[in-house]
Amino acid sequence: MENFRAFRAHREDGRVVSRLETLTLADLTPGDVVIRAAWSDINFKDALASGGAGRIQKRFPLVGGIDVAGHVAASSDPRFREGDAVLVIGCGLGEDFDGGYAEYVRVQGDWIVPLPPGLTLRESMAIGTAGFTAALGIVRMEDAGQTPELGPVLVSGATGGVGSFAIDMLAGSGYAVAALTGKLAEADYLRRLGAGEIVDRNTLELGSKPLERARWGGAVDNLGGEVLTYMTRTVRPYGSIAAIGLAASHTLQTTVMPLILRGVSLLGINSTYAPEALRERTWRRLGEDLKPRHLGLIATTEVALDELPGAFDDYLRGTVTGRRVVRIGV
Ligand SMILES: NC(=O)c1ccc[n+]([C@@H]2O[C@H](COP(=O)([O-])OP(=O)(O)OC[C@H]3O[C@@H](n4cnc5c(N)ncnc54)[C@H](OP(=O)(O)O)[C@@H]3O)[C@@H](O)[C@H]2O)c1
Repeated sequence: MENFRAFRAHREDGRVVSRLETLTLADLTPGDVVIRAAWSDINFKDALASGGAGRIQKRFPLVGGIDVAGHVAASSDPRFREGDAVLVIGCGLGEDFDGGYAEYVRVQGDWIVPLPPGLTLRESMAIGTAGFTAALGIVRMEDAGQTPELGPVLVSGATGGVGSFAIDMLAGSGYAVAALTGKLAEADYLRRLGAGEIVDRNTLELGSKPLERARWGGAVDNLGGEVLTYMTRTVRPYGSIAAIGLAASHTLQTTVMPLILRGVSLLGINSTYAPEALRERTWRRLGEDLKPRHLGLIATTEVALDELPGAFDDYLRGTVTGRRVVRIGV
């Protein structure tokens, strides 16, 4: 535990620069549990943070990586013992606190989720923030009354991490799923995940009225902007929209019409600050009925810790398909 490798961001001459370096525990933000990291993952937010886009980090220097899974190496929290298999998703890792791209990660006990039965450490990071957030969206939609009978659910950013998992989980739960994508060449991948329909983002008629023909039973959005606006116009009465991402835009232009004339629910999804009871219920379901059926298809790519410096550009260009897990201490 003395010296270990970490991928850490610095602010230098007004720019954010991230690199591999050697740290000791004394360099890390405080916490009562030290995890020996086995796996992490790459999310859109990690890509933004690596070069300083999106102002993700609240302090510098800061170890990157918003997720981590591994074994407890030391704990002063009575709930955890050395050797326990655990994971942390979000909770400010890589934003306010040193994150998961390190051989040792120090965290607060309240952030830790014991590895759910039915998942390996690698699977938990293949799922990671992306799969957890997709599941959170589905859990909240169902709490608001979403059922397969309401009609097909439209998933945007379909080939990305969140989108891929949302398709897999919705299809596995009996929903008809339509995948909205800019990558028609990946149609076969999306169909194998469970999409029954592929919608081309580049030719989709977005409409302009507050309400257009109600076509979708519900929607999961990773893009924001025009696509989210389109969803508000076209979701059927009492369907829900899970607003998850802003890969295209942080804007949303809508009216109250979908809400008060169609009873549509616009649900904000935030994985970082999910209340504990909701977080635990969602993880339990991820090990049971929402466990992705196509993890091997979605998370095919492994990246080693020392390959991280070159791993983020594809995310910023929107050209990644599926998920990449980061191999740290296995
Ligand atoms: N609310 C939360 O707690 C939470 C948690 C996790 C992620 N997120 C957000 O959810 C979004 C998706 O995350 P992710 O990890 O799945 O990202 P990702 O793996 O990079 O996937 C994003 C997908 O969106 C599409 N896309 C990317 N850039 C685009 C652009 N400029 N215009 C239109 N479409 C674009 C692409 O899919 P297609 O080519 O198939 O269209 C891309 O594969 C991100 O905005 C992320 O920040 C939020």
